[in-house]
Amino acid sequence: MDKKFSTNALHFIDRVDGVQKVTGAAKYSAEYDFPGLVYAVLTGSTIAKGSIVDMDTKAAENAPGVLAVVTHLNSPELPGYKKTAIQANVPETKRGYHVFTDNIIRFNGQPVALTIANTYERAVYAASLVKTKYKEEEHQTDLDAAIKNGKALEGNPYKDYVRGEPDAWKNSEVKIEAEYRMPLEVHNPMEIHAITVVWEGEEKVTVYEKTQTLKTTQQNIMRAFGLKEENVRVITQFVGGAFGSAFNTWPHSMAALIGARKIGKPLKLMLARSQMFTLVGYRPQAIQKINMGATKDGKLTGITHEATAMTSSYQEFTEGIVNASRSLYTCPNVTTRYKVYPLDLSQPTWMRGPGETTGAYALESAMDELADALHLDPIEFRLRNYAETDLENNKPYSSKFLKEAYQLGAEKIKWQDRNPEPRSMKEGDWMIGYGTGTGTFGAWRGDAKVAARLLPDGTLILQSGVTDMGPGTATAMTKLASDIFGISPRNIKFEMGDSNLPPGPFQGGSGTTSSLGTAVHNVCVNMKKKLADLIKDNSIFHTEIVHTVKPEDLLFEDGYMILASDHSKKISYGDALKDAGMKQLELLESSDGNPMNGYSAFSYAVHFVKLMVHAATGVIKIARVVSAVDAGKIVNESTAESQIIGAVVGGIGMSLMEEGVVDHRYGRWVNNNFADYHVAVQADVPHIEVLFVNKPDPILNPIGSKGMGEVGLVGFAAAVSNAVYHATGKRIRELPITPDKLI
Ligand code: MOS
Repeated sequence: MDKKFSTNALHFIDRVDGVQKVTGAAKYSAEYDFPGLVYAVLTGSTIAKGSIVDMDTKAAENAPGVLAVVTHLNSPELPGYKKTAIQANVPETKRGYHVFTDNIIRFNGQPVALTIANTYERAVYAASLVKTKYKEEEHQTDLDAAIKNGKALEGNPYKDYVRGEPDAWKNSEVKIEAEYRMPLEVHNPMEIHAITVVWEGEEKVTVYEKTQTLKTTQQNIMRAFGLKEENVRVITQFVGGAFGSAFNTWPHSMAALIGARKIGKPLKLMLARSQMFTLVGYRPQAIQKINMGATKDGKLTGITHEATAMTSSYQEFTEGIVNASRSLYTCPNVTTRYKVYPLDLSQPTWMRGPGETTGAYALESAMDELADALHLDPIEFRLRNYAETDLENNKPYSSKFLKEAYQLGAEKIKWQDRNPEPRSMKEGDWMIGYGTGTGTFGAWRGDAKVAARLLPDGTLILQSGVTDMGPGTATAMTKLASDIFGISPRNIKFEMGDSNLPPGPFQGGSGTTSSLGTAVHNVCVNMKKKLADLIKDNSIFHTEIVHTVKPEDLLFEDGYMILASDHSKKISYGDALKDAGMKQLELLESSDGNPMNGYSAFSYAVHFVKLMVHAATGVIKIARVVSAVDAGKIVNESTAESQIIGAVVGGIGMSLMEEGVVDHRYGRWVNNNFADYHVAVQADVPHIEVLFVNKPDPILNPIGSKGMGEVGLVGFAAAVSNAVYHATGKRIRELPITPDKLI
């Protein structure tokens, strides 16, 4: 046996689709071509609130190459996509917004027309000729003004949570009060949202859509157009990042579907970068107050966390901003309050670590402030309040190795060697700061199906209708199958990205590996049983004592079934099939959503940041990052490490530069481009060291993994903010921490 390919020895395999990605062979949703393909461009409204009183599309329609201009005046009524304004009995913030179904303007940049032409350039030009007359109404896009003059939404998500005594922090021996502010943040993945639509008649459609969820996209299209499931196919082979922006079937996709059906030609619509700020969601702005108290020896006695955020006027969006404050630490008295104000902006949505990322910025900053007030090391303070059980839900944790993560990270960055005194460490003109922040994110497992086919040449084909926005799902599943089934990863093909395949999980919520991995685990285990059954009477295995081979007598390694008691007796998987006269062996297995049997499950990350603040200019350089993560057992180390690195890069942007700016006079985004909306680039990112506790969770799934897509971002901005305080002695309680706030 060639030990070089012994799969169990490897901690990771390279990305199975890496070559396709770096050579450009990978196809993204805007890269499909068809004979007669036409191009569509959206025209956006120039007011934030009001209605359309008149439209003149003649000039656009008469422009060269134009096939159609779709507006609310000529868009067909669809069975499951009706006018939104007429649902009088539904509260305004729950009505949603259906493109081209009425003349109401809800946000600046709302699509008012879809211009279709035979070239992209002609479509862009003609779209600029669409003339719209509006009746303008007074809008509100300013959260502070809405808090002052507006009304917060009511309902279940906004009920206060109280454990123990309400607002008990007031009576604590040592206490702090602080308010933290976070701006609008935009996902801004590299790949711009795009859809290519191919109708066959009016009842059957194939779409190449940027999505994190094939199944929901298929269902949304079925419902809107009243189509049968087998007549709606969604293909998403590659996604160039999404971070949560690709769960919804957004209005631009519906517009493309409507337009393509109207003209009966294959059609492509790709947003402009500026439209990425208004048409595919963003992280809502939030203002958070944390009041916290402890005993003199550092035991938390009260936490009150109040968050105020925003949503659009037409679609309520809520997230668990205050939730982690209820259970991350042991504290008998916790009060949380959550308020949301509707604004005349487009709909916010989930963005990496939704809720927790926002909440942990405040909670973990406040923990640092209270540690400082107590003259305690921030890690020591956290350890004194370590939660051994989930006090919010009164449940034990399925696994929790946060202590180990604190230790791993602190050792690596030599936390104890720093001078804890603020503004005490210097290197030339630079003030040096160290900071830490903890992140947590719920772990879970959902439904997923995987089909497996073993061929006589020893190839295993796995299929599931899942998409991959970048974490390397096919790679992780290949590694998992290779380990469990005992074959080289080179003999595994993981097929995905097509709604015709058995339904996979959506990609997101840090649950893909847990959900899909469970199905892959089950299919591999049961495939081995089937193989063992095929050869149970095979004479190859006959010894003086053994005539019938049982699965437990066998090793499954490197594509061979090997008799455990005599390694010279073996047969390849392919030969086992051939001997049995079979062309293939097929199996379909699933993962069921796990009720968790009374456990709470979370992943954890502990971030340590070393940074430098230039004394004269306030410029901040992140010098070093160590992130220690408890995400259960790691399935594929290299892609797992990349997940955390990617999250930290996002965290650097969030801490130091990302800020969506709206001009409230017009309710319009000011910096809707990459020149003005700054994300972290290569020069902003230091070497990022990722450490995994790598201990299996025994409850959540048979793999032992938890989740890691989100947790790597949660708590990071607080670590930076705390490091800035350590460097400068200044608490900046507003993101992003730009130089002007420091000097
Ligand atoms: Mo994530 S916000 O689950 O893509």
